[in-house]
Amino acid sequence: MIPLHLLPVAEGGLLAAAVTRQPLDNLDKVLVAAHVGALGVYVVTAAWIKLSLLRAQRVIPPAQAAIVGQRVGTDFTVVSWAAFAVTGASGYWLLGRAGLADPASPQTLFVNAHLLDSAYGWKILIMIALWYLLVISSIFLTFVFRPRLTRRLAPTDPPASLERLQQEQASAVRWIDILAWFNLVVALGAFLAGFAISFDETVLRIVR
Ligand code: HEM
Repeated sequence: MIPLHLLPVAEGGLLAAAVTRQPLDNLDKVLVAAHVGALGVYVVTAAWIKLSLLRAQRVIPPAQAAIVGQRVGTDFTVVSWAAFAVTGASGYWLLGRAGLADPASPQTLFVNAHLLDSAYGWKILIMIALWYLLVISSIFLTFVFRPRLTRRLAPTDPPASLERLQQEQASAVRWIDILAWFNLVVALGAFLAGFAISFDETVLRIVR
């Protein structure tokens, strides 16, 4: 593992600021705030739905609970994808400004391979890998399982298909619950990786 100050860094960007112990510039501050803030909104909203809304749904009639769940689920889908987009875009922008992004290296998730000679690089890679996991899991949630909840039978469908539909919807509800918990844990893991960087290598190193 090579120390941070020996990494080839471009001028500007968080890492260069850390290495030369310069203050962050304004664009970096905005990018970090957007990067952490967007995923923060996602985690707080997801936790609120899990802890508060689902509890409330248990004490209202099932038909109303289903409508509330559908509405909140749709809004949360929009919040999630907006948060993933802002976090991903600001993250790669931060990396690009520091000269550490590599569009020709999909095998390192578009991070410059040299960066993986440092502990810093591995923490970045873990953070990004967790973000891709979130995106993949959310693709299943949004495009596979959620549409199953609103599927209806056609009048011409045979009676046996009603039972199949009910089973399919019950399984979709279970999968949505599992993936929602999975996403929450993965997002918290990415926060841990991000804060490990922040405490060990960059922002807090600069102000220390
Ligand atoms: C679930 C997704 C993610 C979360 C929760 C997350 C969280 C964080 C946190 C907490 C920080 C520390 C900010 C600080 O310095 O105080 C950080 C920094 C950073 N993140 Fe992420 N991140 C995520 C995804 C990504 C992605 C997809 C990229 C893409 C390249 C990325 C690139 C970066 C970079 C370059 C930094 C700055 C590192 C430095 O301080 O030198 N992150 N992230």
